[in-house]
Amino acid sequence: MVIVAAGSGTRLGAGGPKALAEVAGRPMVAWSVAAAAAAEAMVIATPPGHEVEIAAACGAGPRVVSGGDSRSRSVANALAAVATDLVLVHDAARPLVTAGLFAALEAGLRADPHVDGLVAAAPVADTLKRAGEDLAVAETVSRDGLWAIQTPQAFRTEVLRRALDVPDAVLAAATDDAALVEAAGGTVRIHPYYEPNLKITTAADMRLAEALLG
Ligand code: CTP
Ligand code: MG
Repeated sequence: MVIVAAGSGTRLGAGGPKALAEVAGRPMVAWSVAAAAAAEAMVIATPPGHEVEIAAACGAGPRVVSGGDSRSRSVANALAAVATDLVLVHDAARPLVTAGLFAALEAGLRADPHVDGLVAAAPVADTLKRAGEDLAVAETVSRDGLWAIQTPQAFRTEVLRRALDVPDAVLAAATDDAALVEAAGGTVRIHPYYEPNLKITTAADMRLAEALLG
């Protein structure tokens, strides 16, 4: 189990790492750590310089490693300390994750030998339109078959390790781990998930998470 918590939280603007910002009485990262408590081994990527605070927020179980300057580099750093055959990767920025979702992804991946990665996702509910910089709508895009991808994402560890073995610029451009696995020729499937699993980016997201977790 890898939890990436090494971002700076610039858009939240809490004056420190987002993973340490308090949500409903706990540091944000601690919610994901609690949901992952059943995991065999947990590795947390932390913002360099905040290792001690993150370790204190997460209790004795998890191993703490320094993150990198992109999300994917943080995943790669943490993966170096993973010895299990399957690995779950989760963003500390999604504190609504549940033990049940982690378990469902791991079981789903174990049950399907043809798949390298299984990712939590929700069907896109809003109408999609493409617009230029002037905000003039150019077209309405069909949302048929479109999914909004979340974490956690489960992978065969060696497949993810190989997928992450690419130049830093490629790592920096990737918005999720599954995209790197796809680019390396791996097979990825969707695990439909209909419960709230919001990603905290802004102060408004924080208020929503407080209401849901509080
Ligand atoms: N992350 C990471 N290492 C990085 C960047 C991001 O481990 N170098 C993690 C974050 O801690 C978060 C997840 O990746 O759990 C998703 O990133 P994001 O929501 O963008 O968080 P931040 O990068 O912290 O926020 P911002 O972009 O506003 O600075
Ligand atoms: Mg970021």
